[in-house]
Amino acid sequence: MDGVPCLRVPRCHAQQFRECLQLKGALDRSLCMLKDSDATVLLPVVPSCLPQFDLRSFQTMVASDGACELVWSQSPLQLKTDRGRTRSNKLETILQELLESHGERWTEELKEDLPRSFQRHEDLVLLGDSCFSKPLWKKMDRNLWSAVAKGLKAKRLAKISRISNNGFRSPVVTMLLGEHSWVNHVDNGIKYQFDVTKCMFSPGNVTEKLRLAGFDCRGETVVDLYAGIGYFTLPYLVHAKASHVHACEWNPDSVEALQRNLKANRVSDRCTIHLGDNRQLKLSDIADRVNLGLIPSSEDGWPVACRLLKRATGGILHIHQNVTSPLPNITSIPAINDAAQRISGRKADREVWQFWADDTANRITSLLRDITGAPWKTNIQHIEHVKSYAPRVHHVVLDLECRPFGIMS
Ligand SMILES: C[S@@+](CC[C@H](N)C(=O)[O-])C[C@H]1O[C@@H](n2cnc3c(N)ncnc32)[C@H](O)[C@@H]1O
Repeated sequence: MDGVPCLRVPRCHAQQFRECLQLKGALDRSLCMLKDSDATVLLPVVPSCLPQFDLRSFQTMVASDGACELVWSQSPLQLKTDRGRTRSNKLETILQELLESHGERWTEELKEDLPRSFQRHEDLVLLGDSCFSKPLWKKMDRNLWSAVAKGLKAKRLAKISRISNNGFRSPVVTMLLGEHSWVNHVDNGIKYQFDVTKCMFSPGNVTEKLRLAGFDCRGETVVDLYAGIGYFTLPYLVHAKASHVHACEWNPDSVEALQRNLKANRVSDRCTIHLGDNRQLKLSDIADRVNLGLIPSSEDGWPVACRLLKRATGGILHIHQNVTSPLPNITSIPAINDAAQRISGRKADREVWQFWADDTANRITSLLRDITGAPWKTNIQHIEHVKSYAPRVHHVVLDLECRPFGIMS
């Protein structure tokens, strides 16, 4: 068939369908999506995924009432590289004019100092650290930020520097243009609001958030030990239908956003927020599932997570960790280091994740025994790869089933 294979979806659900396609590796990321005339959007599909393409599963994942269909677009879809070029050309032209109006000359060095990528939250563009570093920009005063906003089709501008080491993982974000710093974000049908200058947002966790939205947690009590603005808490409540979520968070700014988000999604009645250090949490023996969404490591939360699991029936721990291969400081487990050095590439990564998971399972089994005074069994249900930071640093999640001895088959 001629044309580009695309999934035609309702415009209001385009983002969710896009994330699902991406999760299944079926989104053609080299092409831009195309807005169709009749409130629908065409999402480009990788042609080699067509034989296994399961329309129904996409609809179920998105949980939308809007239908989707597979079509072949006859209109050409723009290459992403072309779109990037158009956008940066526009910014370049505007800035060139601004400089010349100040009697300055446009140079290659200045061009290199333009933003290559940025995050967009509605009308606010969040620039990275490595742009507009040349002293000449300062001469343009506030005109610079108005011009940049115009070039990027934004109304507000902010700049992110780094994740601060204050324990809250707060980004250091400075507003450059615009009155306020709260933004709205709709993700998989869930509304989020947060203050970009005070809270962390993890766009890279999309796949994990979609995965847990597919869990069936009806009748379960879930504890989210690192709730932030509710990035995992909300899918547990809205999509996985958990009976109750206990959300722990020590950053009052994130808690403010979390409260707003629970309200906006009408699930406040099924969530209890615990403001403070989760290691001081007074609860125990209540959880069917504990989410430990902290990287680089959630190890500090392991004892409290074990204490929280129901003594009679146990439950599942979702343990996040950045795993580096070869693992750097695990001299106490020579088998891991040996294996990491022996093997290379993706297979090596997977083997190192498996070694890490086995080691974690053993340590959790001992912790559970020490905490409860009774024997436990653990079972590695799944290891999920969330994202990679560098070729050898991977954010992974271990789903670990933990049951008191005698319960697990
Ligand atoms: C990586 S963010 C994760 C937030 C959310 N899960 C996400 O992916 O966006 C970690 C969150 O845990 C909070 N946090 C870290 N250590 C904590 C602790 N000991 N007690 C309570 N909250 C903690 C931080 O303030 C931060 O909001």
